[in-house]
Formats: sequence, structure tokens, C-alpha cells
Amino acid sequence: MTQQPNSGRPTCRTTPEIDASRQIEAQHLALRERIAEIRSTLAKQFDDPNLIISQLSSLSHELKAHFHAEEEGGFFSQIKKRAPQLSTDTAHLEEEHHEFLGQIRDLITLAETHEGSEPWWQRLKEEFHEYSKALMHHESLENQLLQRSYNEDIGSHD
Ligand SMILES: [Fe+2]
Ligand SMILES: [Fe+2]
Repeated sequence: MTQQPNSGRPTCRTTPEIDASRQIEAQHLALRERIAEIRSTLAKQFDDPNLIISQLSSLSHELKAHFHAEEEGGFFSQIKKRAPQLSTDTAHLEEEHHEFLGQIRDLITLAETHEGSEPWWQRLKEEFHEYSKALMHHESLENQLLQRSYNEDIGSHD
């Protein structure tokens, strides 16, 4: 099996598979940037809460689209097809999508009950910090799973 220089990925993957995986990887990067923006807004503690409400709402929309792309766009099904033994892991990640969508709704509700007090900002910061940490962990597990499924698929053809 040949490898593309520096890519660590096999050249035998089909174009639709590469497109779907690249789309998901690009969305993971975009989500990281969105989270960094929100952390920066929270750190500045603006008097006007509209910015943080709109940024959290944008993140919620992006997550819905991202989770839908993973569930329906072939990302999870490709992993299961290449490495059926990873099905339990993908099922767990799919379950987490529902939890993340519920939690971002709660964060938006908290932002909308804007008090502007120091304890209110601290609570929003802490809850978003925990949320974004869990979300980034989820995305990093997906990246690892994708890589494992390539490796195990390659191994099965040796
Ligand atoms: Fe996901
Ligand atoms: Fe993801």
C-alpha cells in the first residue's frame, strides 16, 4: 500500500470518502475557532449580552448542521464499514450529539437571563468552559476513530 507524502493516509480511498472526511475535518476546525471566539467574548464581559447570545446561537446552528453531516453524510457509516468493531464507539458518539444540543440550549437560556453581575458571568464562563472541553474531547475522539478505521481497514488488506 502506498502512502501520500506526509498525509499518513492511503491513496486507495475513494473520492466521496475523502470528500466526506475532509468536510468533517474542516468543520471540526471551524468549531474550534467558534469556541475560541466565544471564550474571548466571555473573557471581556461586555455589558451588552447580545454578542454572546448571538455567538452561542451560531454555535448551536453549526453544531446541528455538523452532527447531521456526521450522522447522515456518511462519516459514521464509513467508519463502521471499514472497521465494524468500532460500531459501539460510533453509537456512543451519536448519543452524545443529543446531549450536546440540549446543553447548548441551556447555555443560551442562561445567557438570555442576562444579569450582568460578576457571579452570573462566572457561572456562564464556567459552564461554557466545561461544555467546550467535553465537545472538543468528543471531536478529538472522532478524529482518532477515523484514523483507527483507516489503519484497521489497511491492516485487513495486508
Ligand atoms: Fe460528533
Ligand atoms: Fe464532529
